[in-house]
This record gives sequence, structure tokens and C-alpha cells, in this order.
Amino acid sequence: MTQNSDQHSASTIWGGRFAGGPSAVMQRINASIGFDKRLYAQDIRGSKAHCAMLVKAGILSAADGAAIDDGLNRILAEIESGQFQFKTELEDIHMNVETRLAELVGEAAGRLHTARSRNDQVATDFRLWVRDTLDGMEGALQGLQAALLDKAEAHAASIMPGFTHLQAAQPVTFGHHMLAYVEMFGRDRSRLKDARARMNECPLGAAALAGTSFPIDRHMTAQALGFDRPTANSLDSVSDRDFALEFLAAAAIAATHLSRLAEELVLWTTAQFRFVALSDGYTTGSSIMPQKRNPDAAELVRAKAGRVIGNLNALLIVMKGLPLTYSKDMQDDKEPVFEAADTLELSIAAMTGMIRDLTVNTQRLKDSAGAGFTTATDIADWLVRVAGVPFRQAHHITGRIVRLAEERDCGLEDLSLEDLRAVDARITQDVFSVLSVEASAASRTSHGGTAPANVAAAVAAARQRFL
Ligand code: ARG
Repeated sequence: MTQNSDQHSASTIWGGRFAGGPSAVMQRINASIGFDKRLYAQDIRGSKAHCAMLVKAGILSAADGAAIDDGLNRILAEIESGQFQFKTELEDIHMNVETRLAELVGEAAGRLHTARSRNDQVATDFRLWVRDTLDGMEGALQGLQAALLDKAEAHAASIMPGFTHLQAAQPVTFGHHMLAYVEMFGRDRSRLKDARARMNECPLGAAALAGTSFPIDRHMTAQALGFDRPTANSLDSVSDRDFALEFLAAAAIAATHLSRLAEELVLWTTAQFRFVALSDGYTTGSSIMPQKRNPDAAELVRAKAGRVIGNLNALLIVMKGLPLTYSKDMQDDKEPVFEAADTLELSIAAMTGMIRDLTVNTQRLKDSAGAGFTTATDIADWLVRVAGVPFRQAHHITGRIVRLAEERDCGLEDLSLEDLRAVDARITQDVFSVLSVEASAASRTSHGGTAPANVAAAVAAARQRFL
């Protein structure tokens, strides 16, 4: 195509009514090609579907359609082989592709934009991109669940302290703890799938905002692009970014789950906890302290949640005051989504690697499982079950037993039967059967409870549900 003689070649596409071109600053603030080139595959896919539909509907000749389709294939190959020259003065991916198409196939290229606008085009491209990304993310989370399930299976019976308020609460198993995260990431996956189902409607054909006078077949393009149906309202089609917000919301929640797990890894790898050790592959040393093994990857996963949450906020704030329909503000929808997707993808990969390589210090877990009188509830439960004591009273009696152990600086299991009977005469030798951390965990057989047998069964069930 012949370049416009003035340096502002953007005006070759929309500049009919413009005498002068945009200033350099205008070009810089207006251009999105720096980031929206990531939509190239979706843009070309959308154009090919639109082109085929125009031919089928008799709006475009078969010859023009074939030339356009060939040209689009060539452009795809040029971009993928790194030969394509992206130009800032051509603003965005849509005009970069269309301008190159005109160079390749001449006048026919100018017919591709019939019954279409960049407004429905970008809405379609971006939906396709978010849909592809969401599918990849869902698969990555499944991989993380698989790594967690392997650890859960190996440690279905490894007793550790369970915490509330980060205070030792009751013995649980390490496998049970891993399974808690399997559930969280399972919900994250289902949120992504829900978002996918809702977003899977095709905006293409809404044109600028009002629809078009051409006899297009929106069902055909929707189907060609793998959408369930065309969107129902043309105004909504070009102004809706719910799909991006839902993706970001699901991403922010997943990042929050990753961050909580990362925090536990940071805590558990300290000399004070020593519950687990991270592999060389996921830790770093210190340049000054030779003994150090720092959990940098876990710390960074914890930190990066902040960015993903920020990206959700950023787009909510962009959208919240926009009147219908399209406003250029909406061009700023892409960077938050791209950044969130990249950040989450990396965080999931790092977490999957850390979990896969994790070594669990089962001795240390077991030794600390009883610290902090974690079987106190078992004494209270025993008083209820065996001696028929009302729970509130049993709680009080057990409190006195704990105080006694605290005074003596010993564990509950180290108290003698006489000691216990001095607190309450209804206590018998049988109570010692519930005082070990193993017995405590093994007794928690209620649905979803931490008993090793439950955990082993829950691992098998989770494999069925999630893998
Ligand atoms: N680059 C634009 C965006 O990302 C494409 C849509 C432009 N539409 C317009 N009416 N100027 O939003």
C-alpha cells in the first residue's frame, strides 16, 4: 500500500476527515501495539472467521475472500517467524494486520472491515485470548493439585500440629493439610470454568455499537470461533469487560491461595519450625551468611499475589465510571490482564516445583505435634463420651488438667492417673488411650476429618474429582 506522504501514517486508516496528523505524544499515549500484539493469533483467527462469513453471506466475493484468507495466513507466518514489522504509528494490532494485508493483497484488504468495527473486533480478540489463557491456567492448577496429592498420599499418616491463631490446636496429618490446598485450587479451577462458560459468547458483528445493515450471520462466526452463541445486545457487546474482570477476580483469589501456601512454606522452613525443606532448585543462599537457605521463590509467590490483586483493582477502577458503549479507557484493559496472567502462570509453576521437591521432616512434625497440649480436646471428649460429663463441664475439668501440666512443665500424657483423678474422680486409666497424638488424629474420622484412614480415602477421591 502507498504510505501517506506525511509521517503520520495512522491517518491512512481513519484520517479521511483529518488535515493534520497526531502529535508524537498523541501517538505514544494512543498506541496499544506495544502490548496488544499479544492478540495477534486471536486477531487473525477472528478476521478469518469474519471473512469466511462475509463470503458465505454474499457480502464479499469468493475471490476477494480467498485473497484475504491467504494474506492472513501469510501474516500469521510472518509474525510467528519474527519477520513482521509492528509499527507504533499504526496504533494497534488490528491496524497493523490490516495495513500489512493491504500491502499483500491490495484492494481486497479494504473490504475485510465491512460490517465490522475495531470495537467488536477487539472485544472478540480479547475474549478469545482470555479464554485460551484461562484454559491454560486451569490446566496449570490441575498440575499443582497433582503435586499436592502426591505429597498428601505419601504423608496421609504423618502427624503434625494443626493450628488456629497460629497456636498449636489439635494434631492433624500433613496429608490433610495438603488436601486443604487441593480443595482451594479445585475451587479456583471451578471459578475459571464458570467464568469461561459465561464469557463464551461472540461479540463479533456488533460492529461499532449498533449492529450492522449488512446481512451478516453472527451464528456462523460465533460457531467458527468456538463460542456457544453470539452476544444478544450490540451495545453490551462492545462495552462489556466482565469477562476480563471475572478472570482477574478468579486469578486474584488463586493468587491469594498460592500466597497463603507460600507463607506456610516460609514459616515451615525456618530453623524454629523445621517442618519441611525446600530443594536447592527453589532456594537461594546468602552472600554473607554461609548457613542460609532462603525460600525466595515462596516469598516471591507471596509477594506477587499483591500484583494480581492490584490488576483486578486497576481494571475495576477503569470500568467503574464508563458510560455505554466503548470508550478508549477500555484499551487499558489489556495490560492488567496480561500481567496478572503472566504473574499467576509463573507463581503456579514455582509453587508446583516447590511442592514436588519438598522434603517433609516427619520426625520433627510428630515431635512438635503434642507441644501446646494439643490433645486437651481429646480428654474433654473422653469425659463426655465415657463418663457422660456435659461438654462445657468437661472443658472446665480439662482446663484444670492443662494448668496442672503447665505448672509441672510436662505433657498431658506425663501426668499420673492420681494427678488426673485428683482433678476429677470420674477419670480412669482408659483416658490414656486418647492422649497420644496418633490416637487423637486417628479418632477424627468424621467426614472431612484428619484421621489417616480418612486422608488416604480423601486422596483417592480427590484424584477422581480433580485429575
Ligand atoms: N486498540 C483499541 C482497544 O484496545 C481497539 C479499539 C479501538 N476502537 C476505537 N473506537 N478507537 O481498545
